[in-house]
Amino acid sequence: MAKISILLLPVFVKVALAIPAYGSLAGLTQRQVDDFIANNTLAPIPPPPGPLVNDGLLLVNDPSHPFIQPGPDDLRGPCPGLNTLANHGVRKTLRPTVSEFHFAEFNQYLPRSGVARPDQLVTAVMEGFNLGNDFARFLVYQAHLIDGNPITNLISIGMKTPQTGPDPPAPAIVGGLSQHGTFEGDTSMTRVDAFFGNPAIFNETRFDEFSAFSMQFGVNGTYDINAAAELRHQRLEDSIQTNPELSFQSPRILSAFSEAVFPTIFFVDGRLDNGQLNLQAARSFFQPNKFPDNFFRQPAPVSFPTIQPLTQQLFDKHPFVPGMNNGTNNFIELPDTPALSDFCGIYDDIVNRVLKTQYPNPSGPLLEALQTNLNFLFSAVEGHNCTQAFPFGQ
Ligand code: HEM
Ligand SMILES: *[C@@H]1O[C@H](CO)[C@@H](O)[C@H](O)[C@H]1NC(C)=O
Ligand SMILES: *[C@@H]1O[C@H](CO)[C@@H](O)[C@H](O)[C@H]1NC(C)=O
Ligand SMILES: *[C@@H]1O[C@H](CO)[C@@H](O)[C@H](O)[C@H]1NC(C)=O
Ligand SMILES: *[C@@H]1O[C@H](CO)[C@@H](O)[C@H](O)[C@H]1NC(C)=O
Ligand SMILES: *[C@@H]1O[C@H](CO)[C@@H](O)[C@H](O)[C@H]1NC(C)=O
Repeated sequence: MAKISILLLPVFVKVALAIPAYGSLAGLTQRQVDDFIANNTLAPIPPPPGPLVNDGLLLVNDPSHPFIQPGPDDLRGPCPGLNTLANHGVRKTLRPTVSEFHFAEFNQYLPRSGVARPDQLVTAVMEGFNLGNDFARFLVYQAHLIDGNPITNLISIGMKTPQTGPDPPAPAIVGGLSQHGTFEGDTSMTRVDAFFGNPAIFNETRFDEFSAFSMQFGVNGTYDINAAAELRHQRLEDSIQTNPELSFQSPRILSAFSEAVFPTIFFVDGRLDNGQLNLQAARSFFQPNKFPDNFFRQPAPVSFPTIQPLTQQLFDKHPFVPGMNNGTNNFIELPDTPALSDFCGIYDDIVNRVLKTQYPNPSGPLLEALQTNLNFLFSAVEGHNCTQAFPFGQ
């Protein structure tokens, strides 16, 4: 797997070099983009890697992955997990030296620029946190389809950027992970709702609340599953009362509940692995986006069978019906949209509604790239026995 990424690096570099020259193509018509693609072949789409070969406990904050503050041109976004992997990642230069190729043989996490290929993201979250392969694919290809650039095969973990290359035609957004209303959504734990400000940056008031809930509901003042259940409930109640534009429905409901559980697993040192996140480690991940000193990842890959019962546990404590506000404190339930427990319904909603809205009628190489990524996404949900969705035909 590492070998493959070395071989692909020069190709990737060529694409990156090509981008500034064509940056002004952003926002052209389908015809013009087709021309562009015809003249400048689609970036290759490496398939996602398989499961890790060595998938056990491992020191991940090691000397070959030093924490470095992001520079002014490095993009960071709403995900503390991915921001951390970029802050401990590789500085990608346009012309890698031989030693950098060698370096790439080690687990490189993410490019510090914050712009990456989806297969790199899958590798990074497996290597850095020990996400299971199918779970990593599910998160990554969902994100790439709705926030990434299928033509250049690049996605920003932060805001929209010319670094992901010329865009496919509107209504495609290619907004990066910070794009509100796609993957990013309301009721985040440590960020404000987009209605109130930038939802991609850490908010101290929010983190104080995270801490207070941990002190009140968690074992020994830690963020554990009980603290997670109460905080998740309170974040929704708060937004219902204050955010006139709150939206809390598929697919956001699934990410909101998963992300409430993640810190109790992935942010806890794998040698302890007791579901109890202490607040110093929590701050380290959420604010500077830094692995705690000497941090070990999970002792075994963590996937749907671990995550889903925990999100169910949160739901059972405080059930809800998906919906949206029509003005503050006026939550309109949308019982016909997929419920949190309806995994295949949410998969279908991502593909047939969210994606299709951005790509109503793709053709040519753009269509091919979308189909390829849709197949990668489906490969992640097969274990759930979902029926494959074909928004653009088979
Ligand atoms: C694998 C690909 C991943 C993608 C595409 C992704 C994407 C995102 C996005 C878009 C958000 C913002 C959602 C929102 O609050 O509105 C988010 C939040 C979050 N992510 Fe990730 N993520 C990934 C992996 C991870 C991993 C591996 C971890 C933990 C190790 C993680 C932990 C979190 C947490 C805790 C939040 C919630 C932040 C908050 O509510 O304040 N994510 N992620
Ligand atoms: C593609 O190449 C053709 C023929 O060389 C040229 O006329 C056209 O302007 C090019 N289109 C783009 C978008 O580069
Ligand atoms: C952080 O969140 C609080 C509470 O929602 C808000 O009052 C404050 O303006 C936010 N701070 C920033 C910097 O956005
Ligand atoms: C709480 O912390 C103390 C001291 O670290 C420890 O001895 C005790 O077992 C912990 N309690 C629980 C329920 O984990
Ligand atoms: C939202 O509220 C306005 C009145 O404040 C009403 O006219 C409108 O029908 C409501 N929309 C929905 C979807 O209920
Ligand atoms: C999927 O189908 C198989 C075979 O019918 C069954 O054993 C398995 O439990 C199903 N899995 C889920 C998540 O429904």
